[in-house]
Amino acid sequence: MTDRYAVIGNPIAHSRSPQLHAAFARQCGQDMAYEALLAPLDGFADAVRRFRAGGGRGMNVTVPFKVEAMRLADRLTERARLAGAVNTLRFEADGILGDNTDGVGLVADIRDRLGVPLAGSRVLLLGAGGAARGVILPLLEAGVEGLMLANRTPEKAVRLIEPFGIREGLHGGGFGMLAKHEFDVVINATSASLSDEGLPLPDGVFADGSLAYDMVYGRGETRFLADARSMGAARLSDGLGMLVAQAAESFLLWRGVRPDTAPVMAELSAA
Ligand code: ATR
Repeated sequence: MTDRYAVIGNPIAHSRSPQLHAAFARQCGQDMAYEALLAPLDGFADAVRRFRAGGGRGMNVTVPFKVEAMRLADRLTERARLAGAVNTLRFEADGILGDNTDGVGLVADIRDRLGVPLAGSRVLLLGAGGAARGVILPLLEAGVEGLMLANRTPEKAVRLIEPFGIREGLHGGGFGMLAKHEFDVVINATSASLSDEGLPLPDGVFADGSLAYDMVYGRGETRFLADARSMGAARLSDGLGMLVAQAAESFLLWRGVRPDTAPVMAELSAA
């Protein structure tokens, strides 16, 4: 029987995950089906149980269910626990494993596709919501020299880094602390791009040759990327590659094979 997988969210109609996983399955010769599942806002756990009972092997979880998915899982990977959210479920004989592949997807995209070394880099992460939280551990593990978290509400940035203990080079605060600092990589994990709002970045945050990375995708050049360009960022990227790379990590968790993201990325970019 064909193994079944799905992405679950609300809304879900525009998800690219079915297309991504179909491409990975073809490439890796895996017999599997992958669909998009709309769950009612108050019906996430029920929908997961039904899918599992119907022979489902695993799921991707997207907005707004990532925190609920963490609670539903019987076991969590360390990276899911520290992210405080789950984007991948694997159904096992004795329970549900919850994982989070968003952060490793971001790191893989920046380091492997864009070829920007994170080891030894000065990284600025903007925002302190779920999107920012999920990428802190993978960035630290990638060996960054420094990681600053700046948020409109400074206390949230301070609180977000607390679980990581006191580490040299790890700081959280408001945008004010950025004056006189420069960074090799600046990542936008705020939702400001969704409403086209600008962020109060001081002059000089973008070091020579720096990369500006917006975690959103499919919106063309966002306000953040346009501002970054005019402030001197040498390279710009949206978050499409992160989407593809997190999907590849989920695929690896389920199927034990790592798909090559490059041809799939090329196909999506062309479309
Ligand atoms: P997500 O799960 O996508 O990260 P979230 O938890 O709602 O979403 O967090 C949104 C983030 O974007 C927050 O860091 C928010 O800042 P506050 O914590 O101060 O609310 C940030 N954000 C949203 N709109 C913003 C704007 N116009 N300027 C600056 N930061 C903004």
